[in-house]
Amino acid sequence: MMIEPIPRDASVRLSDDGRAVRILDQSRLPNETVYLELSQPQELYEAIASLRVRGAPAIGIFAAYAMYVLARQSPAPHYAPFLEDCRKIRRYLNASRPTAVNLRHMLDRMVSVAAAAPCMDVSSIQETMKEAALSIHREDIAMCRAISEYGLSLVKPGDGILTHCNAGPLATSRYGTGLGPLFLAQERGIPLHAWCDETRPLLQGARLTTYELQRAGVDCTLICDNMASLVMREGKINACFVGCDRVARNGDTANKIGTSGVAILAKHYGIPFYVLGPSSTIDFTCPDGEHIPIEQRDGGEIKDKFFTKPSALPEVKCYNPAFDVTDHSLITAIVTEKGICRAPFEESFAQQFPEAWKGAGQ
Ligand code: MRU
Repeated sequence: MMIEPIPRDASVRLSDDGRAVRILDQSRLPNETVYLELSQPQELYEAIASLRVRGAPAIGIFAAYAMYVLARQSPAPHYAPFLEDCRKIRRYLNASRPTAVNLRHMLDRMVSVAAAAPCMDVSSIQETMKEAALSIHREDIAMCRAISEYGLSLVKPGDGILTHCNAGPLATSRYGTGLGPLFLAQERGIPLHAWCDETRPLLQGARLTTYELQRAGVDCTLICDNMASLVMREGKINACFVGCDRVARNGDTANKIGTSGVAILAKHYGIPFYVLGPSSTIDFTCPDGEHIPIEQRDGGEIKDKFFTKPSALPEVKCYNPAFDVTDHSLITAIVTEKGICRAPFEESFAQQFPEAWKGAGQ
């Protein structure tokens, strides 16, 4: 059944008065639709840490708006102390989650905007920062659209696509990355079928991906993570599309825990495995997956968050890494807003992004 698609820019935007960041609280979906307006440092930090806003690009956009909202509250009378306040905000927000590099990239970009305006008064710098945050958001919309076009060129009508976690409009803006081709195909009347891993332990696939797809009228089926192998073996999957939280220079890619397992299965069954993400998710300073910090989260997420009764004794030890790294050798292609990168990824990245590549000292 087609329900109403989620509103545009629901995941994150600046509030109407510009004093807060407005988000759709993803931690309460799909059962409750709650919008929050956040303006205090602790609540902005908490929104990222507890995944009220989540998905690498959405975290980056949120961080840019959050930086503006907090910078606007700075009592600093002129440039030097104002810049120091911006740097403090960057340090604080950047500690909220470690893996998605968009957070660091967008905070750095906002501080550079402030740093580049030594001759301006504080309120003019704040205005420039607002424009920068809005541009970051607009750029993400355009990048998602381009990624979706390239992604769609990799499949044919009737294909089954397996996806893990959530890389749709909630995690980005408008189309999404890993899910973008599915939304675009739906708009154009091209039939594709999405197979959605539920994505333990926080169930982004079940709670968010099927929510977005179902509401947009995209044909989709929810499976438990451990069913992916069977579904592939049954011939139902023609390609895997996933998002990314940080892509290293050699193409190693961190994404939601379980992604590397999907890639290994895809290789076994001879199914192409595609990573889709904007250039803001590539860390040109990071040589390989060994250097990507992996977030560790509370074991309660595994034991009792989504159960009416705990599923394990309270004293049971848990290991709860939120991401894993998919080795570049398992990735068929990495799709960015500039096109489709194939191995060797270093060469493709250097060609697509010569300035960023050189800027990172290559
Ligand atoms: O812990 P999450 O839900 O923030 O993890 C998100 C993912 O792993 C996504 O796949 C990734 O950020 C890409 S979103 C376009």
